[in-house]
Amino acid sequence: MKITSLLWLCAFTLPQYVCSETEEERIAARLERGYQWPPSDSDYKPNTPGWKKLFEHRLRQVEEMEDKSSRFEAYVQTLSASIVQPNFTEHGFGLARAPDDLMDALRQGIYDGLKAGPREEAHYPAIAGKRPWFIDRPDLMTRVLKELQHFPEAWSNMELTPEIAYGFRLYRNQSNLYMHVDKPETHVISFILHIDSSEDAEPWPILIEDYHGTTHEVILKSGDMLFYESSKCFHGRPHTFHGSWYSSVFVHYYPKYGYKETFNDREKVWALPNHWQDDPKTHHEAPIVMHGTTFEEPSCPNGWCQTKWTKKWSGPGKDGYWIAPSGESFLFQPKQQACEDYSEKCSEWVAWDTNECNRNSDYMLIHCKKSCNVCSDNSEAEL
Ligand SMILES: *[C@@H]1O[C@H](CO)[C@@H](O)[C@H](O)[C@H]1NC(C)=O
Ligand SMILES: *[C@@H]1O[C@H](CO)[C@@H](O)[C@H](O)[C@H]1NC(C)=O
Repeated sequence: MKITSLLWLCAFTLPQYVCSETEEERIAARLERGYQWPPSDSDYKPNTPGWKKLFEHRLRQVEEMEDKSSRFEAYVQTLSASIVQPNFTEHGFGLARAPDDLMDALRQGIYDGLKAGPREEAHYPAIAGKRPWFIDRPDLMTRVLKELQHFPEAWSNMELTPEIAYGFRLYRNQSNLYMHVDKPETHVISFILHIDSSEDAEPWPILIEDYHGTTHEVILKSGDMLFYESSKCFHGRPHTFHGSWYSSVFVHYYPKYGYKETFNDREKVWALPNHWQDDPKTHHEAPIVMHGTTFEEPSCPNGWCQTKWTKKWSGPGKDGYWIAPSGESFLFQPKQQACEDYSEKCSEWVAWDTNECNRNSDYMLIHCKKSCNVCSDNSEAEL
C-alpha cells in the first residue's frame, strides 16, 4: 500500500513541519528544486569521482532496504551528506594538536571526575554496548568551545558560531559507535578532541570518509584534534573497544554568515526519490541496518564493510601543522582575530551609510569588523 502522507512516521522520526506536508506536496517541492534521480554528477558535493562512487553505492544499498521507515531515514542521512549539504573545505577532515595548558586542565578534569564517580550517560541508539559514563564539567566545555574557536576557524578559513562542546563522554569496555553524520543545522565545522583513555585501553580507531571516497582509520593520541565537516563525512567507531574507558570531547560550530539564515531542514526530505516507498526488487549489496540515524553493515567484520580497505594512520599530529587525508602537512598557527578595520576607509563608509555593513556584508563584516561592531568578546578584550 502506498501512502500519500508522511504522518505515519511522525511519531518517532520526523520534526513536525515535515509532517504537515503530503507526499504530493513533497514531490512538487522536489521538482521545483530540480532534484534528479539518480543524482547527476554535478549534484554531488563535492563532485569528485570518488565521492560520487561512494554514495552511488550507498544509495543502492539504501534502495534495497526492506523496512520502510529505516529506508526513509537512511535516504535522508545519505542524501543530506552527499548532495544537499555544501562542503566548506577541500579535504573534509584533518589532524592537528591542541594547546598543552588546556589539555592538562582537561585530563585533570577526567581524573577528578573518575574519583568523584561519573554518572551514566542517557541512552543513544548510536552507541552499542554499555552506556558510556559521563563527567559534567560545563566550565571546561565552555573553555574548549571558546578558547579553541580560532582553531576550526583557521582550518576552515571561515568565521564560525559556536554551537556546543559535548563531554566528557567515557566510552566503556565492549562498546562501539555506529557510522553516521551529525545534524546539519548546527554541526557543520567540528572537531573531536581526544583527552585520554585508561591504561588498559587498546588503540581504538575512528573511521572517517574523505572527499575522494577513501575510508580512513585514525588512532588519536591525547591532545589530538580531528577537524571534520561532521554533517558531510560519515564517521564512527565501528570496531569494538577493549579497555576500561576512552574519552573524547565533541565540539561543533557552523558558519557565522549566511548559513543558518538559509538552512532548511526540509531540503533533505525533498531530495528523496519519488519511489522511496517501493519495496526493493534486488538484493545485491551488503545490507544496511539503521540504529536511529546511524548505520551498520552486520554482514561484514566490525559491522562495516570498508574496515577491510581503510587507509590507516595514527597521531600524535605535528605541532604547528595540520595533516590532510592526502598526507600533506600545512602550516597551522591559529591566532585570535584582532578587532580591526583592514581598510582606512571602513569608518568613512559606515559613517556615510549606516546600512553598509548589512548591504555589503560579505566584504564589510570581514574587512571592517571594528566599524561594523561585530567583534567577538575575546578579540575586544585584547584591545
Ligand atoms: C569542496 O571540495 C572540493 C573537492 O575537494 C574542492 O575542490 C572544493 O574547493 C571544496 N569547496 C570548498 C568551498 O572548499
Ligand atoms: C572487557 O570485556 C571482555 C569480555 O567480557 C573481558 O574479557 C575483558 O576482561 C574486559 N576488559 C576490561 C578492561 O574490563
